[in-house]
Amino acid sequence: MCGIVGYVGHRPALPILLEGLHRLEYRGYDSAGIALVGSRGIETFKRSGRVRDLESILPAARARIRRATTGIAHTRWATHGAPSDRNAHPHLDRHGRIAIVHNGIIENAAALRARLALDGVEFASETDSEVLAHLIAAMPAGRLVDAVRAALQLVTGAYGLAVMDAERPDTLVVARNGSPVVLGIGEREMFAASDTAALVRHTSQVVHLDDGELAELRADGYETSTLEGGPTVKTPLTVTWAAEALDKGSYGHFMRKEIDEQPDAVRRTLTGRLDHRFHTSRLGGLELDPRALLEIRRVKILGCGSAWIAGTIGAHLIEQLARIPAHAEPASEFRYRNPVIEPDCLYIAVSQSGETFDTLAAVQEVTRKGGQVLGIVNVVGSSIARACGRGIYVHAGPEVSVVSTKAMTCTATAFALLALHLGRIRDLAPTEGQRLVAALEALPGQIASILADEPAIAAIAQTFAGVSNAYFVGRARGYPVALEGALKLKEVSYLHAEAYPASELKHGPLALIEAATPTVVVLPRDALFAKNLSTIEEIHARQGPVVVVTHPGPLPIAVAGRIDVPQSAPELDPILLNVPLQLLAYHVALAKGRDVDRPRNLAKSVTVE
Ligand code: AGP
Repeated sequence: MCGIVGYVGHRPALPILLEGLHRLEYRGYDSAGIALVGSRGIETFKRSGRVRDLESILPAARARIRRATTGIAHTRWATHGAPSDRNAHPHLDRHGRIAIVHNGIIENAAALRARLALDGVEFASETDSEVLAHLIAAMPAGRLVDAVRAALQLVTGAYGLAVMDAERPDTLVVARNGSPVVLGIGEREMFAASDTAALVRHTSQVVHLDDGELAELRADGYETSTLEGGPTVKTPLTVTWAAEALDKGSYGHFMRKEIDEQPDAVRRTLTGRLDHRFHTSRLGGLELDPRALLEIRRVKILGCGSAWIAGTIGAHLIEQLARIPAHAEPASEFRYRNPVIEPDCLYIAVSQSGETFDTLAAVQEVTRKGGQVLGIVNVVGSSIARACGRGIYVHAGPEVSVVSTKAMTCTATAFALLALHLGRIRDLAPTEGQRLVAALEALPGQIASILADEPAIAAIAQTFAGVSNAYFVGRARGYPVALEGALKLKEVSYLHAEAYPASELKHGPLALIEAATPTVVVLPRDALFAKNLSTIEEIHARQGPVVVVTHPGPLPIAVAGRIDVPQSAPELDPILLNVPLQLLAYHVALAKGRDVDRPRNLAKSVTVE
């Protein structure tokens, strides 16, 4: 949730760390801090608020610290201790020799604090993280990496950690257990970060640490080892993201930019994966041959938030096209209920970041029990992608906005490719495959035409800005569209929005409908069109205003608002019906003056439990 950046090399560390913090601010943004090691030992600067607030306290010290070539930095999303200057990272030991920045939660922090207090340590913050600085400082003198290793052997919990020692200004040590750490390899310089986004401006060569691994970084290279002390061998990966993809360009918000990027992003998801000869899809990363795929009797999809909802769209696609029973469940629920793992079930972990703790834990639970799991993931080389070892990369490009848009659309598209593949191995006829391949190819252009309708969607958004509640309903494959529409709206505009299956309305939620409560009805022109019209009648009978997301053509009922999307193959309709609801949420947020790219209380990737 928080962001870490570290640098050791030949250039001034300060601008590199600040730039990295700006890149990572989307991960957590309640306080930020920097520590640099120079001739006067370690100097720290920290501030609650945004990175720009931290920058405002630097000018006085800039001349003094500008030559420091080693440093660590942090942007925080508070877990232990309120957001404040004193709780901001980096934290120091009592002599100011060791500085640390930490992501994750130290579970035995209370016991460690009590033990350190007996040795006379006075704590400067309420955080669990501070114990790490004192513990490392208390270890026998020697190599910093050995002191960190010895301290971590006393720690239970999750960490992504970067450590600096005033007495060894040419060295940084980083460690990982449950919270990502990536090394960046430069020319006579090394970088470390919790997220590749902070590195791509400087290098395309990265190394992902595994859980239980440490690394010692110097300007001329790095060494990795395990918590037990054995050396490890790592193979660097090449990152293909262009640094510009992480800039807002001429857009006011990353969310709006990423909504606009969807035609190109979906094109990337599809590139090289459509097979016109056999009317199917080619998915090399599955590493399951047709015989193994034929043996699958059930599909279970696991993810959180929008990734889970994309999985719900995926479950419908797999059931419809491949006739395999499929179901999506929040990964966070699955992992806690001692799930039954079936040998003929295919488990699919879905994640944009590839770092969501609950989803990673669900993958580990499935593999521990001998289940077969594959990943549908956006970030190449991320923890979930590596834990699954096979699957489909979504190729949406970097998603910076906390509110997921293009990754959701591309993930749903990746599910369509998988469903087509599974279907064509089974009973889906070639003509049906042909119909779907054509429909998939049409998606980018159709999304572009929806985006062109923005002014009409923005006008409807104005009518939502003044209400206190909104409902979203959809049937069957329309229900995940309603779920995602409500999630987007509440995340970015803080308007209370709930989604229900349309068929459930009369079993309770109808009691909430009144003249001041708009309902968005997902109304594709499919076999359930008439049923959805009856739902609208029920809402109208309670004076509820209705906005429909539908396909072109006459509507037998007058509605308060109407958004049209082009018709696709019915199975793919959810992908298109979802897009205008992203724009709706964006414009409601703008009308309500919300901080679109930094919604309150949220972080881009939830790497804690
Ligand atoms: C989506 O808008 C959210 N911010 C959130 O629900 C997100 O989808 C969820 O936390 C899962 O993230 P992941 O895809 O990176 O695993």
